[in-house]
Amino acid sequence: MKTYVFPKSFLMGCVTILILSCSKIPKKIEYPETDLRNASLIPKPLKVVPTNSAFGLDAKTAIYTAQTDSEFEKVGQFLASKIAFQLDLTVPVNTAESETVERIIFINRTETLDSDAPEAYQLYIKNDSILLNARSAAGAFRGVQTLRQLIPEQSNDTLTTQPMWLIPSGKIDDAPNFEYRGAMLDVARHFFTVDQVKRYIDQLAYYKFNAFHMHLTDDQGWRLEIKSWPKLTEVGAQSEVGGGPGGFYTQEEFKDIVAYAAERHIEVIPEVDMPGHTNAANLSYPIFHAKGKAETPRVRTDMKVGYSSFDAYKDTVYAFLDDVVREISEISPSPYFHIGGDESHATPKKDYIHFIEKVEKIVQKHGKRSIGWNEIAQADISPSTVGQLWNEPESALKAAERGSKIIISPAKKIYLDMKYDTLSKHGLNWAAYIPVDDAYNWDPETYVKGLPKESILGIEAPLWSETISNSEELEYLAFPRVIGYAELGWTPAEQRDWEDYKSRLAGQLPYLQRNNINFYRSPLVVWEE
Ligand code: ACM
Repeated sequence: MKTYVFPKSFLMGCVTILILSCSKIPKKIEYPETDLRNASLIPKPLKVVPTNSAFGLDAKTAIYTAQTDSEFEKVGQFLASKIAFQLDLTVPVNTAESETVERIIFINRTETLDSDAPEAYQLYIKNDSILLNARSAAGAFRGVQTLRQLIPEQSNDTLTTQPMWLIPSGKIDDAPNFEYRGAMLDVARHFFTVDQVKRYIDQLAYYKFNAFHMHLTDDQGWRLEIKSWPKLTEVGAQSEVGGGPGGFYTQEEFKDIVAYAAERHIEVIPEVDMPGHTNAANLSYPIFHAKGKAETPRVRTDMKVGYSSFDAYKDTVYAFLDDVVREISEISPSPYFHIGGDESHATPKKDYIHFIEKVEKIVQKHGKRSIGWNEIAQADISPSTVGQLWNEPESALKAAERGSKIIISPAKKIYLDMKYDTLSKHGLNWAAYIPVDDAYNWDPETYVKGLPKESILGIEAPLWSETISNSEELEYLAFPRVIGYAELGWTPAEQRDWEDYKSRLAGQLPYLQRNNINFYRSPLVVWEE
């Protein structure tokens, strides 16, 4: 039996409500029978125990939060704003006026949870109260997403004099399998506006992602203002694949994206890809260009890879990178800085190793840990650096043997830019066709033979943007596969089952439609209207 410590203000509120309830003697509501196990929750929670009744969300509901904690209050406000958007219903947060309050949602901080994961949470749903317990605001935020997924589209208008949205009662105990659950967006091949990026982040939050990796630089464009090297954006941001206008984020805009993500307990991880994929930087400042095998910098709007390189033996290159890493680190709260490192085919191996080891030190100097694509395992990287597996399981093993953690992102399983099948409107197929079932039916934990679970930081679903340039196209490739990746990151393999998932995925239709998300209607799923 666990005990819960409620803040005084909450207890006072309860007492007031109790007195009011007694004085008014509200009519007992005859809730219909429900089954919490039938809810289309994604990711699937660890433990669900139904109690077959309901909580009635209506105009007499209020949200209260652990009041000493402004982060918890923000989580309560986020829930209220989403309820207002979905139902056109105003639910007050921490209101002092309790006269009209008959039911409460209480978001409580507690240490007494089964799981010690920072994002663990518990939901107790009863007739007159929902208690959401979490150790951290991040945990509370994840629990709020579960609660949002339990709110039905249709209200019941016959139980009381006003509409009531019935949330099935019961208890949920939940915690993530992996601490890192990421999605990446390539804003370099095509530029995506701040609003387009925020739209995707908000969708990822609904499915409990906690990391958003921005691929900010590539051959076709440099997308973030660096004040000490202005030509990066004056020259290097003005192109994209196919010859469009490109674009870039000012540092203020980047901070705005970071803050928007942080409100959703999502960390933004900036990537500056190097020493290859650097044509846009080299075009801006030709002194960085490595010559040798690398092609002379020019505006690139094609999709070729592996032809550009920084000069690994020029001091100016490292002075420049010191400025870049410093400026970005100052506006990026994430402990990680992604240094890319992939497909540097125009950099001799010896130069590549020298470069990665130097850049890793620069990143450390600015208080961050490097993440790099699996090629960086060729260098003598430090155990604090994270390897991101995309094409060579052996490199991931090698990095893990040296003590590095690994992010699992194999192209043939989790690249969102791979086409679903030969008929797909957008996407590429160099790694695989990835239909919705193949995207779901694999296990990140056993994908690399011999890689222990302790070495896996988590999973990430990258979306490269050679063939997409707006939200509609982005969503066509991301949805619905990214929803399955959310489950692969959160729910342990023993609890995943395609047939069961498929019907819960169909249950996402109201959310997808309400938010005008342009998802691919895979024929593998029965999308009931
Ligand atoms: C990659 O797909 N080049 C990381």
